[in-house]
Amino acid sequence: MCCKAVPLRGVRITVLVTIKTEDARLGMYVHAVAGGWMTSPFWRRHFVLEKPADLQKLREGGIAEIVIDLSKGAGPAAAPLQPAAAPATAGEDRDVTSPVAEPSAPVRRRRAALTPEERAQAVVDASKVIVQSMFDEVRLGRAIDVQALTPVTEQIVASVTRDAAAMLNVTRLKTKDEYTYVHSIAVAALLIHFARTLNLPEDEVSALGLAGLLHDIGKMAVPKALLDKPGKLEPPEMAVLRHHPEKGHALLSAGGGLPAVALDVCLHHHERYDGRGYPKGLRGEQLSLAARMSSICDVYDAVTSQRPYKRPWSPSEALSRMRSWNGHFDTELLDRFIESIGIHPVGALVRLQSSRLALVIAGDDAEPTQPRVRVFYDIPAQRFIAAHDLTATVTVDPIHRGESGQRWFGERWETLAADILAGQFGPPQQAMSKGVLS
Ligand SMILES: [Fe+2]
Repeated sequence: MCCKAVPLRGVRITVLVTIKTEDARLGMYVHAVAGGWMTSPFWRRHFVLEKPADLQKLREGGIAEIVIDLSKGAGPAAAPLQPAAAPATAGEDRDVTSPVAEPSAPVRRRRAALTPEERAQAVVDASKVIVQSMFDEVRLGRAIDVQALTPVTEQIVASVTRDAAAMLNVTRLKTKDEYTYVHSIAVAALLIHFARTLNLPEDEVSALGLAGLLHDIGKMAVPKALLDKPGKLEPPEMAVLRHHPEKGHALLSAGGGLPAVALDVCLHHHERYDGRGYPKGLRGEQLSLAARMSSICDVYDAVTSQRPYKRPWSPSEALSRMRSWNGHFDTELLDRFIESIGIHPVGALVRLQSSRLALVIAGDDAEPTQPRVRVFYDIPAQRFIAAHDLTATVTVDPIHRGESGQRWFGERWETLAADILAGQFGPPQQAMSKGVLS
């Protein structure tokens, strides 16, 4: 495999990599084929490898190597890049680019030219093409091509592994037309990241990623006009939309070949922990861990997404509001999700580096990991202290981790937190230990 970095005018960098045709995968953007387009079985000069049939055509077309563009599509599997010359056809677009870099230039430096967000965006763009193509096929009544989604899932897993924050940031940006597809990619990325936080085995992490990609496939059975309707839906329209989990489940069941978790997530991602969700109204432990995780990830992405007709909530605001929705989510699991996002919303209990407990009283969207907190408990001394406020910056007293209020203070936590938040907390006069209060 060989590569060339092609700096374009401006900041965007094109990274051309030559790979053996046998290593080609769906989601790659083919920039050129070795031997020139006269021998190519494709009529387009540049294209994304979207369909397994195209992949097969490429492999059977007697083409030894292809040049792919990493800035526009999926990259090769983990193998390290080796500098080498590109095929003659790789320079077709040189009239609009600067000269290619020297073949001997260090590859590591070239790859570093892409920011984490640019790399994540390339994965999202390539994934979006495949997801959209697959969803459109389903809308036309064709079967789901599960095979096509395997490399997409792998790329999202790799991107989350590389830089989860970058991936989660870029998937928040969605245009109206692409909302359903990018939302699916975002939920996949969130589930993958969440599963890693919960230390789930890697095969389950990947299966959850696939489940995220497919969770809203049932929306392809909902009229497009209804999906695209801005603003509030009328009750009859809402009833139609609410059939999408069951429609999706039926589609996935008919196709076969999917892990059970994908069917489970598709059917149950709109259930609520208190049983007031749909379609089955299942509650608590009747819902699998995957279903409870997917409900959190689905809502979090929906409310934090930038959409043309509504102001997105900041991550901190979203997590804070989601914590306040009684009965909607498994609260223990939501706390773990918040931990995975790394942002502590208003009302959350945190342990500071100084081994003191504090309540988050105000967020800072510019510095979401450094909120304003009210310190009230000394852990080593096991006693309450006079409440005082500070900003949890690295130099003052950073947040070590999130804590469970119920675990520390039992049923009294809700009242205690409300008093602290309202500034009405005074340390009890008697012994102020965890044991006394709980
Ligand atoms: Fe949904």
